[in-house]
Amino acid sequence: MDRKKVTIAELQQKKENGQKITMMTAYDYPTAGLVDQAGIDTILVGDSLGMVMLGYDSTVPVTMDEMIHHCKAVTRGAKNSFIIGDMPFMSYQINAEQAVENAGRFIKEAACDSVKLEGGSEMAPIVNAVVRAGIPVCAHIGLTPQTATMLSGFKVQGKDAESAKKLIKSAKDLEDAGAFMIVMECIPDFLGKKITKDLKIPTIGIGAGTDCDGQVLVYHDLVGLFERFTPKFVKQYINLSPMIREALIQFKAEVENGTFPGPEHIFAMNKEEAEKI
Ligand code: KIV
Repeated sequence: MDRKKVTIAELQQKKENGQKITMMTAYDYPTAGLVDQAGIDTILVGDSLGMVMLGYDSTVPVTMDEMIHHCKAVTRGAKNSFIIGDMPFMSYQINAEQAVENAGRFIKEAACDSVKLEGGSEMAPIVNAVVRAGIPVCAHIGLTPQTATMLSGFKVQGKDAESAKKLIKSAKDLEDAGAFMIVMECIPDFLGKKITKDLKIPTIGIGAGTDCDGQVLVYHDLVGLFERFTPKFVKQYINLSPMIREALIQFKAEVENGTFPGPEHIFAMNKEEAEKI
């Protein structure tokens, strides 16, 4: 059956029907095509691309231009998944005007369907300004990698009652500000369940337990293409790195020993024509 472009209304309906929502990161044309063909509801062009595609130590150095470049490739590759462009650090924190302008680039230049930005209650006015400009916003709370230093590192958030209450309030404030969905990263499953129950909008978990309305993983973690570290919440479905390394070693050996290219890879020239040369 032909699949149609996923809409915000359908994502909302899934929450209301108790159907799980799927989200996967993608950063390039071929991956976007594969994710789309798999029927995944939403693609996040995450600023995690800074680490898994560009080799930065964190997501902090990622620029607007880098995000737009990758988002353009993804929107060319995926026709039906709902595409979310991740706003990089310092592209939305300074003021609402700059946030709206940068969010607009994801929609106008890169043809994304929406944007995501990190932060709790303090970001609600920014979320509201972007939404009022007509751009759907996915919020992101819990472990927010752009400000991991403020959180004293990559740690589970909301483990004590006080910080858990703060996250519950953040989620509500972001919903009230107009966010259509909220990513919750690295929080106890109890809290993931409570926020999911409290909110009308869908929640997407990454290390937030089984009761979120949906789940997201970083593509490179899922397929074993990022070997620097693996967070506890990751499930690796396939380990491509050793397979790719083996193929490359084989290519090198075959070129060096003359078995590649083989006769089937060669363009033969008509013998008569060759003799004229
Ligand atoms: O940048 C990203 O990929 C993300 C996900 C981990 C949610 O924000």
